[in-house]
Amino acid sequence: MDSIIVRGNGPLNGQIAIAGAKNACLALMPATLLSEEPLTLTNAPRLSDIKTMTELLSSLGAEVSSLQDGKVQAMSSHNLDNHVADYDIVRKMRASNLVLGPMLARLGHAVVSLPGGCAIGARPMDLHIHGLEALGAEIELKDGYLHAKAPRGLKGAEITLGFASVGATENILMAATLAKGTTIINNAAREPEIVDLAKCLSAMGAQIEGAGSERIEVQGVDRLHGATHPVVTDRIELGTYMLAPAICGGEVECLGGRIELVGAFCEKLDEAGISVEETDKGLKVARRNGRVKAVDVVTEPFPGFPTDLQAQMMALMCTAEGTSVLEERIFENRFMHAPELTRMGANIEVHGGTATVHGVERLKGAPVMATDLRASVSLILAAMAAEGETIVNRVYHLDRGYERVEEKLGNLGAHIERVKGG
Ligand code: EPZ
Repeated sequence: MDSIIVRGNGPLNGQIAIAGAKNACLALMPATLLSEEPLTLTNAPRLSDIKTMTELLSSLGAEVSSLQDGKVQAMSSHNLDNHVADYDIVRKMRASNLVLGPMLARLGHAVVSLPGGCAIGARPMDLHIHGLEALGAEIELKDGYLHAKAPRGLKGAEITLGFASVGATENILMAATLAKGTTIINNAAREPEIVDLAKCLSAMGAQIEGAGSERIEVQGVDRLHGATHPVVTDRIELGTYMLAPAICGGEVECLGGRIELVGAFCEKLDEAGISVEETDKGLKVARRNGRVKAVDVVTEPFPGFPTDLQAQMMALMCTAEGTSVLEERIFENRFMHAPELTRMGANIEVHGGTATVHGVERLKGAPVMATDLRASVSLILAAMAAEGETIVNRVYHLDRGYERVEEKLGNLGAHIERVKGG
């Protein structure tokens, strides 16, 4: 397993290009299953999770070609010949469950392995299942697989989600595009990835209103046609790299960044003494003056503070002036990075879903272990501001969501290198 070595190296300066969004692309790719005609995604990120989704779609009979160095995904689901999403693929990436809605709508049946738990929480699929059952699907759990069928096709319905789940909204939205009649999704997730998915589906001929709001309305159509769609910018990669100059000093311009993608996050940066300036190419970030101030954070669904930036924000708070309280409200076990940051000299107390961080002057390099995607990059951020050398192990987590991290940060002046493992 590869590891990454980082030596603290002072301020970072320059430009960094933000890629297309992993979490948008992982919902957009299954949309190909809704139509016989080709769907092409441009500005696609080059990540191991995209490769896993390609493997899954290919196993269902879709053709997926990765073009232009992986930035274009050309897909066609003309000849789907398998409706079983196998455990061996699904267990690698829970977003595989986003093939359930589209397959059900297009084929009238689907068998999808339940993903099981993950490092950050139990992550059940009850909201997905209730939503699809409301559209007329019959779903049964057998031998770890969800067996879903809708022999007479899906029928529009009014659905109110108990929680604004991103995945459940995406699965129901895709299924509703081919359901007879009108579907209303109340308390829908409002993330930019949902808006991007709705844009793509509309380009394929779907009739959708209200994406990005709490109430989405879909008029079902008989069939969808092909389209080409540019993947929205990755707001989590953006937020992560905006923290690089915040934690190390210097000034960095994040190319492709937009404030509306990271509004709540920017408010917290402002409170902490970090300036964010819109440029014609993106967002320029720098400390206003001197040491960063401690701020409190509560994670919430969009447009609140994103849970996927909580670990990275904790890394910043480790050397902030004062004490900050971070409350994680989305996932029940998302502080695995805290003990690793403590190994680097941070002063953190975790009680249930609340972490209290007492800022220290400086962190010190140490060997640490990545436990999940966002935890791994928070360790890289902390290491760039630490004294001495840090070795981050198990970086396969990182490759799932950050393309070419050493290159991108190295270009800003970071001392960072990958060590290929056995
Ligand atoms: C998406 O996961 C993202 N993943 C996650 O990013 C992100 O953290 C999450 O949304 C929240 O923003 C992708 O888009 C591929 P949810 P998802 O359904 O769809 C509970 C990353 O780092 N819930 O909104 O799985 C669930 O357990 C990843 O890139 C149910 O109880 O998130 C969780 O506590 C990590 N029942 C909460 O809702 C359900 O049926 C939010 O989950 C569904 C969800």
